[in-house]
Amino acid sequence: MPKQDTVTIIDNATGKKAEFPVIRGSEGPPVVDIGRFYRELGYFTFDPGFVSTASCRSNITFIDGDAGVLLYRGYPIEQLAEKSNFLDVSHLLLYGELPDSKQHDQFSSIIRHHTMINESLKGFYDGFYHDAHPMAILVGVVGSLSAFYHDSTDIHNPEHREIAAHRLIAKMPTIAAASYKHSIGEPFVYPRNDQSYCGNLLQMMFSIPSERYEVDPIAERALDMIFIIHADHEQNASTSTVRLAGSSGANPFACISSGITALWGPAHGGANEAVLQMLAEIGDVKNIPRYLEKAKDRNDPFRLMGFGHRVYKNYDPRAKIIRKMCHEVLNKLGDANDPYLELAMRLEEIALKEDYFIERRLYPNVDFYSGIIYRALGIPSNMFTVMFAIARTVGWVAQWMEMIAEPDQRIGRPRQIYTGASRRDYPDR
Ligand code: SDX
Repeated sequence: MPKQDTVTIIDNATGKKAEFPVIRGSEGPPVVDIGRFYRELGYFTFDPGFVSTASCRSNITFIDGDAGVLLYRGYPIEQLAEKSNFLDVSHLLLYGELPDSKQHDQFSSIIRHHTMINESLKGFYDGFYHDAHPMAILVGVVGSLSAFYHDSTDIHNPEHREIAAHRLIAKMPTIAAASYKHSIGEPFVYPRNDQSYCGNLLQMMFSIPSERYEVDPIAERALDMIFIIHADHEQNASTSTVRLAGSSGANPFACISSGITALWGPAHGGANEAVLQMLAEIGDVKNIPRYLEKAKDRNDPFRLMGFGHRVYKNYDPRAKIIRKMCHEVLNKLGDANDPYLELAMRLEEIALKEDYFIERRLYPNVDFYSGIIYRALGIPSNMFTVMFAIARTVGWVAQWMEMIAEPDQRIGRPRQIYTGASRRDYPDR
């Protein structure tokens, strides 16, 4: 255990005091272990939104929100985005190390050979109207996978855990592409083992039986980089949901389905779709001041989507990478003058000069620019959060595996401040 010291809490009402151990990780602020707080002092602690609360130990991802730093197993996100690829980063997140060439080939082959889904799963899609949101389909189909894989739901069996992780990473693009095909009434396209992870996703989404389809290497590389920077992000809302669901012993497919549900919210992964809707609503640079006033007005529910972050009080390093990618990808794809990119950049420029945003340290986050690239790749906005879910699946399963393997793992069960009616008897009627 790292060096421990203590923090003493004195209850001024009773004079009672108690010492609590301080735990220091390898990076980041020290943590006071308050596990015995109620037993020692008779109080619960209160931290709605978990602003100052660490829920677990983890070796996977580190964020320094003030410095705008993001590390996956110690590697800076900027270096991984530039030098690595999504499957190698997936290996890094799952196993703690980047794969050597033999491990790369083995892992790629394993993932490639798990990309197909049970044929009877295709019947699930017929139950959805064509206008069903693809995230609704993803939640349902992923949650149902445990009905097909009885051989990988014993969470106490490390082999089962690993097979389930591989299946989820491999099948998410197939399930997602099928939800897109369903929404446009086109036939599903099977995965192909001669394609890369992202190449497969593109061909399953955009190829049609009546024509040859060539994966555009620019789109393939852009998607691979975007997936790298979305792969994990320590204890965000959806990952915390996966951990909490997993803490009850639920099977991994159900846990990941719960993560997809949490990610969908516009305050979280749903923001990338909401940014495009916001830009469409703003419409023109001349309207930006009016919308910034709305964003600053506490009585107005309008928020600047893609701005602000619970942890980053500096520029989200992922937003910097995507912002740079926007120019490169759009230039290569011939959309250099995309009106949305122009509007987004002017919006960022103007907002970052406003005291309201400066005082609250609100900067663009990962969702602010990602939709612009997805749009340039021909991906519709209702699929943006699905893209996020595909990439984040490896982070969710890595965090889930880490939690299950924790020796002192126990069910998560927060308490509350009860403010309702005290005991009262049922009235004589
Ligand atoms: C993701 O947690 C993660 O790591 C998530 C994520 C990941 O990779 O998993 O990074 C992915 O979810 C990114 C965030 C995507 N969401 C959005 O872009 C939605 C817009 N952003 C906000 O809703 C908000 O910034 C949150 C939800 C992201 C963060 O909420 P917090 O930490 O609870 O911040 P807050 O609401 O306490 O804001 C502090 C102040 C408030 O003003 P005051 O009460 O102090 O006057 O900043 C204001 C807020 O009103 N504020 C905003 C704002 N974000 C915060 N005002 C206008 N527009 C915004 N976007």
